[in-house]
Amino acid sequence: MKTNILSTVEYIRSQLPPELQQPRVGIVCGSGLSGLAGIIQNIHTIPYANIPGFGTSTVPGHRSELAFGLLGKNGVPVVAMLGRFHFYEGHPLSTVVYPIRVMARLGITEILITNAAGSLNPDIPTGTIVVVHDHIAFPGMAGTNPLMGPQTSPEHPRFLALSDAYSPSLRRLLFLAAHQLSLSKSALAEGTYAWVSGPNYETPAEGILLRSIGVDVVGMSTVPEVLVAREEGLKVMVLSLVTNLVVIPPSYKSIREEVEAELAGQSFVTPEEQVVSHDEVLAVGKEKAEVIKSLVQRVVELLS
Ligand code: ADE
Repeated sequence: MKTNILSTVEYIRSQLPPELQQPRVGIVCGSGLSGLAGIIQNIHTIPYANIPGFGTSTVPGHRSELAFGLLGKNGVPVVAMLGRFHFYEGHPLSTVVYPIRVMARLGITEILITNAAGSLNPDIPTGTIVVVHDHIAFPGMAGTNPLMGPQTSPEHPRFLALSDAYSPSLRRLLFLAAHQLSLSKSALAEGTYAWVSGPNYETPAEGILLRSIGVDVVGMSTVPEVLVAREEGLKVMVLSLVTNLVVIPPSYKSIREEVEAELAGQSFVTPEEQVVSHDEVLAVGKEKAEVIKSLVQRVVELLS
């Protein structure tokens, strides 16, 4: 039987004390960024496995709980996804975005989304936090879009405008928060995020393509959540933590030249291969998680 959102909302509320039942801000914690739970006061968590309609996250380093509580010095009621669902795990997009629809129905008006991403921009090194100002949705443009199908509510626009998808007012608050926290200028950048389906990382040729069309960071999540959050009328802010650099070779090494040099008795030094690893992604996430946590908390404080 298909679960309906109202029964999911009813179940969630039945697990919470009254003061946490109507969160104002939603937060999505990306790879290695679920430590945010550590600063939520009066925290109540509900495992995804218990929530009707939710899938279970299968990615190492991701938790699978919805956390409710109060955040910041004014105690703003929040709901945080500790772990998200990805399309590459085999979940249909309707499952990937279900928690966003549920959080909207619980009453949030803003959503702060975080993720780990690879950088294609030589001016954006590993460890930078990128404030996303636009996106390119490769699967979306090719027909894999969570907004396809019958409208889930008559209040949703059939043809969603995305010119202001990434709230300018939230981005302003983010830079104000960074100033108040005395973050160095180089800690933050602004950029365009490309959504790819994954689970493989990019080939060098794909890296060259993405960079040539103006992509700054690339990742396997977030955009389906943004699309649905905007459809639900939420204000959206996205922070991408650069955990690795996408390998863009200055030129391809020629295997033919390598073999010919060897046959001619010359030595040939093979350049070291650069390979992205999920462990690398998690290690950078751990180091910068504290900064993201403080930024998210300060933005929530500035909102209230
Ligand atoms: N997430 C982290 N790094 C990534 C990359 N290079 N490509 C896609 N998703 C990523």
